[in-house]
Amino acid sequence: MTKMLRDKPAVDAPSGKLGILLPGMGAVATTFIAGVEAVRRGISQPIGSMTQMGHIRLGKRTENRQPLVKEFVPLQSLDSVVFGGWDIFEDDCLTAARRAGVLESSLLDKLSDFLGEIRPMKAAFDPEYVKRISGPNVIPGGRREWANQLRKDIRDFKARHGLERVVLVWCGSTESYAEETEITASLAAYEAGLDQNDPRIPPSSVYAYAALMEGCPYANGAPNASVDTPAMLELADKMKLPVCGKDFKTGQTLMKTIIAPGLKARLLGLQGWFSTNILGNRDGEVLEDPGSFKSKEVTKLSVLDTILQPDLYPTLYGNYFHSVKINYYPPRGDNKEGWDNIDITGWLGYPMQIKIDFLCRDSILAAPLVLDLALYLDFAKRAGFYGIQEWLSFYFKSPMAAAGLLPEHDLFIQQQKLKNTLRYVMGEQLITHLGLDYYEDEV
Ligand SMILES: NC(=O)c1ccc[n+]([C@@H]2O[C@H](COP(=O)([O-])OP(=O)(O)OC[C@H]3O[C@@H](n4cnc5c(N)ncnc54)[C@H](O)[C@@H]3O)[C@@H](O)[C@H]2O)c1
Repeated sequence: MTKMLRDKPAVDAPSGKLGILLPGMGAVATTFIAGVEAVRRGISQPIGSMTQMGHIRLGKRTENRQPLVKEFVPLQSLDSVVFGGWDIFEDDCLTAARRAGVLESSLLDKLSDFLGEIRPMKAAFDPEYVKRISGPNVIPGGRREWANQLRKDIRDFKARHGLERVVLVWCGSTESYAEETEITASLAAYEAGLDQNDPRIPPSSVYAYAALMEGCPYANGAPNASVDTPAMLELADKMKLPVCGKDFKTGQTLMKTIIAPGLKARLLGLQGWFSTNILGNRDGEVLEDPGSFKSKEVTKLSVLDTILQPDLYPTLYGNYFHSVKINYYPPRGDNKEGWDNIDITGWLGYPMQIKIDFLCRDSILAAPLVLDLALYLDFAKRAGFYGIQEWLSFYFKSPMAAAGLLPEHDLFIQQQKLKNTLRYVMGEQLITHLGLDYYEDEV
């Protein structure tokens, strides 16, 4: 029989409405918002979302208990979610979605009344951090004024819609790579930096600061540091709020973290992994800037080393070549094409090759992740979790991890960690897949 870790679930059903605020209302954000509304209206299915379509096994296999995740875990229902956000452009969500060119006009036409009503608030923006774009919808003043205004925006949004709770998910452009400096080393230094409008403070971190100061969990969908600094982690601890990041795991990196664990499981060696992409959306344009690409490159390159553990397997993985390129190619828009050439070795060192040609849709892959992250972060807060949420690594290219720990990149370990966390919080037995019939607890 399944043992319960507690007598009753530690988390109650959510009450009231949840606000989801998105800094950056471009392709990913509008595809997410339009998609949730299409699902609410019964026009489309939330494919790719674990919280909406996933099942979770509970207890022994013989018990045959496999409820939907959303029936097992008290998550906010889509009917009571409200959207808002910020952008440097004034376009409402309908205009921005049409511009992004991800969703078909026929679908957007059906949602036009809803999307046309969502207008971005003024953004905290410094063109030094995102070089290829500029827009008029920005908060005047320096970093302290930005923080004050963003905090007020969150409070006003909550009051306007009668919301119980709010979470933020960064869907803004990738900022230039910034080395960690003393300004983000502690909360005190950071706050002094806000007062002095210190240019070393990236705008994305001001959103994280405002969110945490207002009691809102924060997820970072881009590779720039944003909430992943000692200062913001200190604040998250102080406010007892959950945070996670970085960089939504979609497209080529998703494939990498599916295939690399398989190669390693079978102890096949790796000589080289060459990855290149063509991408024509605004994200691709921003990533043409070497500073923004550097942020992306760092998150994309770190994946293989942690999965393959070259230190432990020097013969198999001690000397592989890994390269990732992103090329801006406007005709493709959001429909990215990613090629991988993988040179592997088998028995006695005989070489083999794998070729992948993934014709994917970037924002279609990212939108369900925004939804899951928002709902899980809200759940985490209600469960009393705070600080870095490593169980949400499943969603990120470069998962945040506690100081001194390597992040887990293997998609299947990440999935197990996520589902076991849900079982743990809900007082169900953890599943190890041991499968011994004389082992009473788990078959
Ligand atoms: N689509 C994917 O599969 C995917 C995967 C991983 C990460 N990402 C990241 O998600 C982010 C969004 O991607 P996208 O395709 O929607 O890009 P996008 O260019 O369509 O949208 C980003 C929006 O952010 C706005 N913006 C920039 N700086 C801002 C600021 N300081 N405040 C408010 N708004 C700001 C821009 O004006 C733009 O409208 C990017 O950082 C991208 O790298 C996307």
